[in-house]
Amino acid sequence: MCGIVGYIGKAEKKKFLIDGLQELEYRGYDSAGIAILKNGNISSFRALGKLENLRQKTKEFSSSGFGIGIGHTRWATHGKPTEANAHPHSGEFTYIIHNGIIENYKEIKEDLQAEGIKFLSQTDSEVIVHQFEQFIKKGLNSKEAFKKTIEVIEGAYAILLITKDEPETIFFAKNAVPMILGQNSCGEKFMSSSDSPLIGHATDVIYLNDGDFGWVKKDKITIFNGEVSIAPTFVTLGRDKIYAQKDGFRFFMEKEIYEQESVVSETLMGRVNDNGVELDELKNINFSNINAITICACGTSYHAALTAAYLFERISKIKCQVEIASEFRYKKPLLDQGTLFLVISQSGETADTLEALKMAKKAGMKTVAICNVDNSSIVRLSDATILTRAGIEKGVASTKAFATQIVTLWMLSLYLGNKKQNISKKVLQEEIKALLHTPSVLHVKDSIHEKIRRLSKRYLHGHGFFFIGRDIFFPLALEGALKLKEISYLHAEGYPAGEMKHGPIALADSELFTIALMPKNMLYDKTKSNVEELSARDATILAISPLEFDLADDFLQTSLQDHPMSEFFEMMIITQILALEISVRLGNDVDMPRNLAKSVTVE
Ligand code: AGP
Repeated sequence: MCGIVGYIGKAEKKKFLIDGLQELEYRGYDSAGIAILKNGNISSFRALGKLENLRQKTKEFSSSGFGIGIGHTRWATHGKPTEANAHPHSGEFTYIIHNGIIENYKEIKEDLQAEGIKFLSQTDSEVIVHQFEQFIKKGLNSKEAFKKTIEVIEGAYAILLITKDEPETIFFAKNAVPMILGQNSCGEKFMSSSDSPLIGHATDVIYLNDGDFGWVKKDKITIFNGEVSIAPTFVTLGRDKIYAQKDGFRFFMEKEIYEQESVVSETLMGRVNDNGVELDELKNINFSNINAITICACGTSYHAALTAAYLFERISKIKCQVEIASEFRYKKPLLDQGTLFLVISQSGETADTLEALKMAKKAGMKTVAICNVDNSSIVRLSDATILTRAGIEKGVASTKAFATQIVTLWMLSLYLGNKKQNISKKVLQEEIKALLHTPSVLHVKDSIHEKIRRLSKRYLHGHGFFFIGRDIFFPLALEGALKLKEISYLHAEGYPAGEMKHGPIALADSELFTIALMPKNMLYDKTKSNVEELSARDATILAISPLEFDLADDFLQTSLQDHPMSEFFEMMIITQILALEISVRLGNDVDMPRNLAKSVTVE
């Protein structure tokens, strides 16, 4: 996720802006930039990579005395991480920074280009600055031009804009992406994506709401929402920076579980409409001779791959096999150019997955990466990449990266099904409806979190856990078991529910904990009978289902959904929180579990 900061006042603006961006580093970025307007002149600096590079670029520059400034760290979603794509983006007399995704940027860009506007970047964000200036050139004043620009753009945005046309004003707009305004008794004004850059500077803040826009001057904050004028409502700013970086959550992992609702919206942004899925990233790939898919990954990404295999065969009608990268590398696999080679990796640096990708490239296969980090080794090597847009994932145990991988793969299955004309319009509409319903399914209800927290006290011992499910709920069972293992250090296995009678049921007794995933929309009766077999042998059952199940020792009721993927995401949230709360009770380091690294860059 990108980070933004803004400042109005007399202090050294460069220092506040870059130090403020440093406080947002945890969000992840691949480039950064600032722009400062003072005495009618705008100075702007941008740099690839870490903030130190920006500090180096600006070390001869100072900016004390009254002025205004904006700063940005960019996490690439549209356009590679390059200096030209870094923010701020400029027009003739205006600079902007933007966090989020402008869904209708293509139409706006085409209209502006038709008016002779030249674009310097591949980003969606650049349309904002040119659209604003066009309105000014058509006779609107800055406030009218900004208001009209916000009316034109659609999507998620946290925008700061400075213009020579109003040298003492910072314009802002917020929708679906966080932004706060701040002030202190010295008359300084601040803007930021979150609390941490303002701690030690602002004393009172305003948490803006979706649709809020307006302008900040040294002595006044003006806020509108649509045509309605909003009275600024200040609250006192907290004091703890690390606590602020976790946005009030106990752990980054917990925060990232709660972020899934918003990051999945970004994953979908600009890629899904009523007619289907558009993946511009794949426009140069010819799929006409592709008749099979091989997916290669590790760990949680492997579980996403297993889930995707069901979708590719059921929806896209394309044969799909899944490989664990560390096995694939040494099995002397048969590789043919009619098979699309898909690699899934949050970090883009996992050694086994990278080596498997090299083998596929060497065999002349078409390769596509599903990855969360642009410009990573796997992204650079793949023929095409679909970025998952999860933002940086700090917790070693992957959560939001997994959720965005599944959504991306689901979109890809619809995209390929459509390309191959293997999917009917009716099925496509049903799938699109369920896909767009995903963010709301990922909203974590306080009631379910509290119930899981309470019942977790019963699962702190025993001789092990089985997570069981059928179809796509089998890889979800594997993932739930991995989450628990990773952060609680208790033994857990994911198993196909139908396989229990082929051996594992010998373990069944009251000390065996079975987490049973029992969706209504996928083989419910079959799964139910498997769970009844376990219950008859006195296994301790935690059933997760929308349908009441009397034989469970513990029961977590999910909501009635129309589509199995909606049930998948709701049960995914429950397994993530269950692992988290058991780990908390055991006193483990949830974010940095023993023996693990966030990215396994060696064999
Ligand atoms: C997931 O919780 C683990 N941290 C681990 O299994 C991880 O998924 C695996 O190492 C693959 O990493 P990647 O997605 O970055 O390639």
